[in-house]
Amino acid sequence: MSELHVYDASQGVAEGFTSTAHDYDATVRHNIQGAWRLVMSLPPGDHRRVLDVGCGTGWASLAMLERFPGITHITGVDPAGGMLEVFRGKAAERGGVEFDLRVAGVMDMGVPAGAYDAVVSSMAFHWFPDKQGAVHAMAAPLAPGGVLGILASGAGGEQEFRDVVRSLDPPAPREWDAAFDFTQRDVEAMEAYLVQAGLEPLDVWIEKRLRHSTPEAYLERMRVVASHVTPSDIPAEELEDLGRRLDEAMRAASGPRGFAYTFCKLYAVARRPG
Ligand SMILES: C[S@@+](CC[C@H](N)C(=O)[O-])C[C@H]1O[C@@H](n2cnc3c(N)ncnc32)[C@H](O)[C@@H]1O
Repeated sequence: MSELHVYDASQGVAEGFTSTAHDYDATVRHNIQGAWRLVMSLPPGDHRRVLDVGCGTGWASLAMLERFPGITHITGVDPAGGMLEVFRGKAAERGGVEFDLRVAGVMDMGVPAGAYDAVVSSMAFHWFPDKQGAVHAMAAPLAPGGVLGILASGAGGEQEFRDVVRSLDPPAPREWDAAFDFTQRDVEAMEAYLVQAGLEPLDVWIEKRLRHSTPEAYLERMRVVASHVTPSDIPAEELEDLGRRLDEAMRAASGPRGFAYTFCKLYAVARRPG
């Protein structure tokens, strides 16, 4: 069965991220650090034209500008207009760089083939419905010798939260549990996507950490990055009850240092031959 038919956690993603766009930067410091780490992992080069896929509020693009001062043009693509609005505010403060920020998904970017020196996608890949198709779509705009950097959810991450979700009775919406499989990939799968798309993998790895958080901060992060995973047709009362039970279960699963969880991020750096 293809990935597309199992469960599509990308539905409602644009509305979800638009609704939380103004809380995003304050809530996801690990994503911001991740964007920096991804960009710092790219090989050196005279990159001028950059494509940022799932650009959100622009963290990967801003890191690219710091690392590669020769950049003249950035195309940012994201289906969530609210996220782009926040990015536009940041872009307005950057002189000397042309920004083209467009409301679009990875499969319909409408960008020219072979036109970019670097393509980056930070913490968005896991929401793309067709992972292999998305890597093809991100490889096509690369000029020969251009580089691709992807940061996404890594296999095995947040199992502790998955256990909490699975412990709920009455059960949580099945979409919550299914979202883990939809989003997470391991190094081997990512390597295969890159090779299949005609790219040369330069480095693909998972960083695994044990992190601690208050249950409240953890759930706030989930709200900001995954609100669209909850089906929109759940009655308000039921949703409220679900939220209350989840709060309780998270507190019960927490120790003196808060809620301990495994944080796994998958990084990939590849080059288009030529
Ligand atoms: C967690 S945010 C990451 C934003 C930003 N790249 C960063 O590093 O902070 C995920 C972003 O992926 C976008 N996204 C989700 N599905 C997408 C798709 N099919 N194509 C392009 N972007 C998508 C969302 O709208 C959201 O802005």
